[in-house]
Amino acid sequence: MDLRGWIAEVSSLGELAYLTGASSYLEMGALTDIARKEKPSRALLFDEIVGYPKGYRVLTNALGSLNRFSLAVNLPLHLTKTELLKLWSEKIHQDTRIDPIPVKESPLFENIHEGKAVNLEEFPAPHWHREDGGRYIGTAAAVVTRNLEGTMINVGCYRVAIVDRNHLAVYISPGKHGRLHIEEHFAAGKPCPVAISFGHHPVVFLAATAYFQHRREMEEYAWAGGLLGEPLSMVFTKIHNLPVPAHGEIVIEGTFLPDKTVKEGPFGEWTGYYAHSIREVPLLEVEMVYHRDYPIVLGHPPGKARGATDIFRILTQAAQIKEAIKAAGIPGIKEVWCLEPGGGRFFIAVSIEQMYPGHARQVGLMAAQCGPGAYMNKYVVVVDEDIDVTDLEDVLWAICTRSDPARSIEILRRCRSGPLDVAIPLEEKGFNTRAIIDCCRPYEERHRFPRVVETAPELIEQVKTRWRKELGLSE
Ligand SMILES: Cc1cc2nc3c(=O)[nH]c(=O)nc-3n(C[C@H](O)[C@H](O)[C@H](O)COP(=O)(O)O)c2cc1C
Repeated sequence: MDLRGWIAEVSSLGELAYLTGASSYLEMGALTDIARKEKPSRALLFDEIVGYPKGYRVLTNALGSLNRFSLAVNLPLHLTKTELLKLWSEKIHQDTRIDPIPVKESPLFENIHEGKAVNLEEFPAPHWHREDGGRYIGTAAAVVTRNLEGTMINVGCYRVAIVDRNHLAVYISPGKHGRLHIEEHFAAGKPCPVAISFGHHPVVFLAATAYFQHRREMEEYAWAGGLLGEPLSMVFTKIHNLPVPAHGEIVIEGTFLPDKTVKEGPFGEWTGYYAHSIREVPLLEVEMVYHRDYPIVLGHPPGKARGATDIFRILTQAAQIKEAIKAAGIPGIKEVWCLEPGGGRFFIAVSIEQMYPGHARQVGLMAAQCGPGAYMNKYVVVVDEDIDVTDLEDVLWAICTRSDPARSIEILRRCRSGPLDVAIPLEEKGFNTRAIIDCCRPYEERHRFPRVVETAPELIEQVKTRWRKELGLSE
């Protein structure tokens, strides 16, 4: 259950490219960009990175294909988007938790550096995008903090830049649990202990990015264990006693200092923009580093939305939104998808079997406002059950043909946005408007609505059989 075993499986699937000699300055970012546009989109394992020791590797585009996502969450391979979404939704619905188990031994202890021996510069930290304000070792990191009371551990994925040999800068958005923990400590005049894992099984990355409605101690690790069907092994860091994945590659521990800040950003974001300029964030002083021999950093540089960049987030968002709508007691939900150009957040589509007047609006409003859907959403499209919500063209066709803007679009104001929404002026950040687009056949006209022109599936099969040779189709 470590990253290396997972990479070996990816390699045997033929979905891994091994690249030596790339520069960490822009070149690794560019190669990742290229890989994300490939079909199928391969994971990249970089070795012999210019300026770093041989064997100090970086893996990117880890979850950039349906197969690799399945592999990470213990689902069958070779599924279509819709099949995978169905199984993933069921798995999320089961909501199995398996608590992590503490162990004493870990390959992380192969190398331990403390105090003056700490040197973060030994690990590859790419400058991913041209206008990034630094070198980011953490783009798929798991940042582990504890609340001031000592009753709650949080594991969140927040970006981490190298400042110097023993300092890091971490950007955490307002309201995120990691930031709340830091703020609690600072309000009490105390430094905030932290541990960060930079290389781990992708399920840990997934858990660190996931939204949890109900939280309990080490929720993320228990959720990851539930997905894998076996507990994660944990070790506790030696200074601050924080739980980190025992099969990790590199872990640091240290403290956020209440009285020292450092400049962080800008950084190329998942929205496809450099959404932030430079900010002051608390300085993280690193006290101890643990790493395996020849460690692997897991990297997920964000960028302009493309399927491969965000597919893991899209699948999870879609499954969680579907659950939330159903949990609100709304029937007739067929499928939910977060369309690729929206990076998993901006653009939600829901297909329904209309059951009563007002059903489509109810679904649209709920999708736009439920826990996992509300943050930074802008467009919710509700369609009938014959539309494939995972197919952008099908959804756009429904918008074009079944909506009439004055009747079909509802605008909601002062909804929950975030600092990364570039369309919102600075003084209005935090709020946005959103459109619920009801593209269902109007309920009262659904029986007399014109029928769709399409070739029946049986006729397609008949014709294919007859014309197979002429069309060069396989048997
Ligand atoms: C690839 C990726 C990178 C992320 N980077 C950041 C980040 O730098 N800062 C941040 O606040 N949230 C970031 N997030 C979002 C958080 O990981 C996500 O909201 C998570 O649920 C936070 O956990 P929390 O609710 O326990 O704070 C990122 C998400 C992904 C998928």
